[in-house]
Amino acid sequence: MKKRSLLSLIAAAVGACAIAAPAVAKDFRLGLITPPPHIWTQSAGQFAEELKKESGGKHTVTLFPAGQLGNEAQMLQQLQTGALDMAFMTVAEVTNRDPNFGALFAPYLVKDVHEAGALLQTPAATKLLEALPAKAGVVGIGYGMAGMRQILSRSPVTTAADLKGRKMRITPVDPVRDFYVALGGAPTPLPLPAVFDALANGQVDAIDMDLELINALKFYEQADTILLSNHMMFPMVGLVSARVWQTLSEEDRKQVSELMAKHLKNTIAGYADKESGWEEQLKKTGKKVVPVGPEFFKDASAQWEANWSKRAPVAELREAAKNLPKSQ
Ligand code: BEZ
Repeated sequence: MKKRSLLSLIAAAVGACAIAAPAVAKDFRLGLITPPPHIWTQSAGQFAEELKKESGGKHTVTLFPAGQLGNEAQMLQQLQTGALDMAFMTVAEVTNRDPNFGALFAPYLVKDVHEAGALLQTPAATKLLEALPAKAGVVGIGYGMAGMRQILSRSPVTTAADLKGRKMRITPVDPVRDFYVALGGAPTPLPLPAVFDALANGQVDAIDMDLELINALKFYEQADTILLSNHMMFPMVGLVSARVWQTLSEEDRKQVSELMAKHLKNTIAGYADKESGWEEQLKKTGKKVVPVGPEFFKDASAQWEANWSKRAPVAELREAAKNLPKSQ
């Protein structure tokens, strides 16, 4: 079967936009919850610069980082109404609108950032984006990433049983909640901007987080133990409001989607490049950094699988992951 380009799939999904609008200059507003130095925000800034240059100054992008426009649920609503044009958003938030994306949170779906990046480019993953115009009123341009998930705990952890009853900060999304429920923890959904205070004041006992932010936001200062678990990947998605998309000319849609896709991919390359350095940096903090693998979470993972296999294309994603070139 002939492969269709992502652009043609998007055009088909948005349907009504087959009639191209005339080209008009636009200042796009792009929202994110990540702080200015974060890889996502940096890549969004580079996308803005390149779009301005390549459009000869016709199009500009103003960034609203650090949740200035509200949390991701609020930003997704703004995208739906067209009050916001674009966002780089956790796949967690779109999973709240379309549970099929929950398959991307399968425990140990991939081994590391390299495999995660490769899996996100496979048809099994990219075809999930096609449902977004109908299910969430947004066009999914492509995936980015925030590396792999680790567990940082204020008190010692030696076995999975030590996590029972602990208040675990999670990104607000059902598949992650269900993993920690299966572990016997007390998952506490908190958006990223609220995590620092919650950990510092003891509102939560542990956090589910990535290596970039554990280092950059100095979460490790509150830790006794960091489980280097790589237990899930954490994809991001680049979105354009479907309403706004319909107002763009064919030429503008092509330029916006190609450039955004390029900078989304750059986030994946950024994590692939930096993850091992962050691991080394963390080991130098003097905190207990304990590598653990699938065995550590065996029972919880089996419970998760039984639950989510019925709700999302987990088997399909696992099959695609099996066929990836293996990282060393
Ligand atoms: C989080 O919810 O942990 C998160 C959100 C955005 C980027 C990275 C992490």
